Amino acid sequence: MRHLAGLLVLASIHLHGVTAAPQVPLALPKRPIHGRFLQITDIHPDPWYKPKSAPSHACHRKKSKKKNVAGYWGHPFEECDTPLRLSNLTLDFLDKKWSSEIDFVVWTGDNARHDNDRKIPRTPAEIYDLNRHVADKMFSAFTSKGIPVIPSLGNNDVWHAHFCAALSPTLVQNIMMPGPNSITNEFASIWKSFIPFPHLQIFQRGAYYAVEVIPDAVAVISLNTMYFYDSNKAVGGCLFKERDDAGNLQFDWLEVQLKGFRARGMQVWISGATFRRLPDPTFRECYVRYVELSLRFQDTILGHLYGHMNVDHFFFLEADDLNIVVEDAPKANQQPDLYKVLMQDFSAMPNAKEIDLDNYAIVSVAPSVVPNPYRRRVLLKLWTPLGFTQYFMADLGASNKTEPPNFELEYSTFDSEVLEHGIDGWYPVPKKNLPKKLKKRQTAYGMGALTVKEWVGLARRVVEEEKVQSIFRSHMYVGG
Ligand SMILES: *[C@@H]1O[C@H](CO)[C@@H](O)[C@H](O)[C@H]1NC(C)=O
Ligand SMILES: *[C@@H]1O[C@H](CO)[C@@H](O)[C@H](O)[C@H]1NC(C)=O
Repeated sequence: MRHLAGLLVLASIHLHGVTAAPQVPLALPKRPIHGRFLQITDIHPDPWYKPKSAPSHACHRKKSKKKNVAGYWGHPFEECDTPLRLSNLTLDFLDKKWSSEIDFVVWTGDNARHDNDRKIPRTPAEIYDLNRHVADKMFSAFTSKGIPVIPSLGNNDVWHAHFCAALSPTLVQNIMMPGPNSITNEFASIWKSFIPFPHLQIFQRGAYYAVEVIPDAVAVISLNTMYFYDSNKAVGGCLFKERDDAGNLQFDWLEVQLKGFRARGMQVWISGATFRRLPDPTFRECYVRYVELSLRFQDTILGHLYGHMNVDHFFFLEADDLNIVVEDAPKANQQPDLYKVLMQDFSAMPNAKEIDLDNYAIVSVAPSVVPNPYRRRVLLKLWTPLGFTQYFMADLGASNKTEPPNFELEYSTFDSEVLEHGIDGWYPVPKKNLPKKLKKRQTAYGMGALTVKEWVGLARRVVEEEKVQSIFRSHMYVGG
């Protein structure tokens, strides 16, 4: 599934909608608030990509004997990453069509190609160069216009400095020691325009930090998931006895951040690259700490934004997860089919009368490139996320040098009425970025807001309504 990667990521954009209420005399930033932010993830740029080469050689060389040759702009549904011209096209598109419409950008990792070609192994220098290339584009598209960008580290963005011949490349690339180290130092430099100065020191230690994206109102906390990622054998898995474990130190820091933001009456988004539902048993204590904080700070956390999987889905963090039952947990390499797991989870949820919504939090996992609206509810002064809209490139396979691919709306959690007529003069998707006519399946979810209650309702419909289930499934794999 990981290798479905590159293109798919680039083939979609996730927009979260939140409206602003400028009439409220709070300390708002000087920029106007649009009530939307963008999540972009898993760009996986590949400088070795060669059009017309063979997908079986990672689209790097050899003419394909079959008709299946690498496209000019990329090659969907194969083990090929994103040509630089496609990552450029995507960021240029976001710059042109979206940078004047959003408040901040959550960027959840993986800005280097996969290690999928034995003949051209990745090097730390290449990984850093690719990250620098994408960071420069992000800077010119957003930061230079005053739009905060909040990156996080993906598992493909790191490479263990001391190459260990005994380990397979996959294991080596997933290794990150506790900081400060060469990785945290390098990213402190690559991301210097994105990390607020007061967080720089802690970043050197752990590659996590927070940004007030709307001063005194909304923050984004960027976590380093490498410290609770079950493939990273350089950290311990948040064992209760090991207080100095990198994962434990990060959760201690997160708790302090959440308390601080709550005390100031602020709301936060939590973001990161890799977060899997029920990780390997050895990392179960990290999961428990995460779930415990998510539920304890439900009043402060607006949502959890992740990437990495290249599968568009959401899952629930549940109070029940706090009881560790290690026996029935699958090993990392025996993960059952994600779709089946979600269907089982959704079916097992208590019915509407019995469910206690305080026992749930939702993790949204975006498929490669994703924008999101949020709305300020004047009375509660909350920044409730209202919904999101997913964009993708349906025509990537058919594009050619003269006819570049286009981003189009894949689906939205809003209903067509809200998309077309807005709410009190605010539009979740600016009219210029809406298709002329919306198809029914593009607005099948019709969610009122991204509250726990609405997510639970969607989960129930996915289980009970055949049509919603098939739509949900096709979104998960972007039709692939
Ligand atoms: C991508 O954009 C950068 C500048 O933003 C440019 O220097 C580079 O040549 C472009 N690469 C491709 C392959 O289009
Ligand atoms: C590119 O694609 C368009 C639309 O599919 C087609 O009309 C055109 O002939 C193609 N151009 C080339 C050079 O293949």
